[in-house]
Amino acid sequence: MNKGAGCILGIETSCDETAAAVIKTDKNNKVELLSNVVATSLSLHAKTGGIIPEVAAREQVKFIIPVIEEAMRVLQNPKEEIDAIAVTVGPGLIGSLLVGVETARTFAYVWNKPIIPVNHLFGHIYANWLTTANKQLITTNSKDSQKLVVSSQKPVIEFPAIALVVSGGHTDLVLMKNHRNIKWLGGTRDDAAGEAFDKTGRLLGLPYPAGPQIELLAKNVKEDIYHFPRPLVGSDDFDFSFSGLKTAVLREVQKHEQLSNEAIANICYSLQEAVFEVLIKKTFKAAKEFNAKSILLGGGVTANQTLRKRFELEVRSQQSEVKLFVPTKSLCTDNAAMIAAAAYFNHEATDWRNISANPELYFD
Ligand code: KG4
Ligand code: ZN
Repeated sequence: MNKGAGCILGIETSCDETAAAVIKTDKNNKVELLSNVVATSLSLHAKTGGIIPEVAAREQVKFIIPVIEEAMRVLQNPKEEIDAIAVTVGPGLIGSLLVGVETARTFAYVWNKPIIPVNHLFGHIYANWLTTANKQLITTNSKDSQKLVVSSQKPVIEFPAIALVVSGGHTDLVLMKNHRNIKWLGGTRDDAAGEAFDKTGRLLGLPYPAGPQIELLAKNVKEDIYHFPRPLVGSDDFDFSFSGLKTAVLREVQKHEQLSNEAIANICYSLQEAVFEVLIKKTFKAAKEFNAKSILLGGGVTANQTLRKRFELEVRSQQSEVKLFVPTKSLCTDNAAMIAAAAYFNHEATDWRNISANPELYFD
């Protein structure tokens, strides 16, 4: 989209969340977050121990219009005030993506607005361009639906930057020389970091998604008793591999007739240690190699307080000049504000006829 003052309506439905947000931009590239609404069907997936794609998409069909309406409530005349509609076109679950994409196309057609197709992975990175100077969290109708009102100021992110996206579906390291020059350096060869948490959490009898539970249970543990493998930690590339952790945890689980709460907590701690050490080492290796001025984190796993602290400690211990950016917790997990921000800085507006969902979309 042409840089300048305006409002963007963002829509995100790539996985199990149904999200809409409105951002306002000015000529100085300041991005203000006016509304950010997320409805999740996680409680349904917790019952089944994972996402059933059709169930997720059916819920999104129910939520999408109320969520968009709620996000637009901050505007007096949305049809006049919104300049463009940004929507996640991939990667993600096809049924879920289609809900957002077709809704966005319909709004764009009826309101005669340009549409901005956005890569979800870029969204996680661009959450870093939304700061939360004046944060207010409002819970609306149910615990499944959250509204966050944030006023924001643009932080100073300098290039080159190394971005680490760690979510349930992805673990990727990316070099950003500027908004238009973004190069994928490496990623997971098998399971993503969040996926490793969710799968091992299942072995431990934890509800889906297991990441937040693992964080909670590991909180008071001090010792890395199990010292699980750190796959590819010293490899010459920027790749990751986390699928072996399932087997390592399974072996431990099988040694116990019944896992005590203490053993579960210790496994959670050791699991975090293994995953975080690899994520941190590889990210700093990339930062050093490419003389990065900034490190940007994004994706659901970066909501983890221990991981955030570890990154901060690493910056300090290396006495490095590199600046660390981590989105506020609620902007780490899936949301539409990050999609609108990515649309503004990185993606091009087009006609509603030209966009379609692409579940396989990647960085290149
Ligand atoms: O980015 P996200 O909301 O959705 C995807 O694009 O995948 O990430 C969800 C992932 C899940 O695997 C979940 O277990 C993990 O992020 N996650 C966490 C935490 N919160 C969410 N992992 C570790 N610690 C957390 N606090
Ligand atoms: Zn995501």
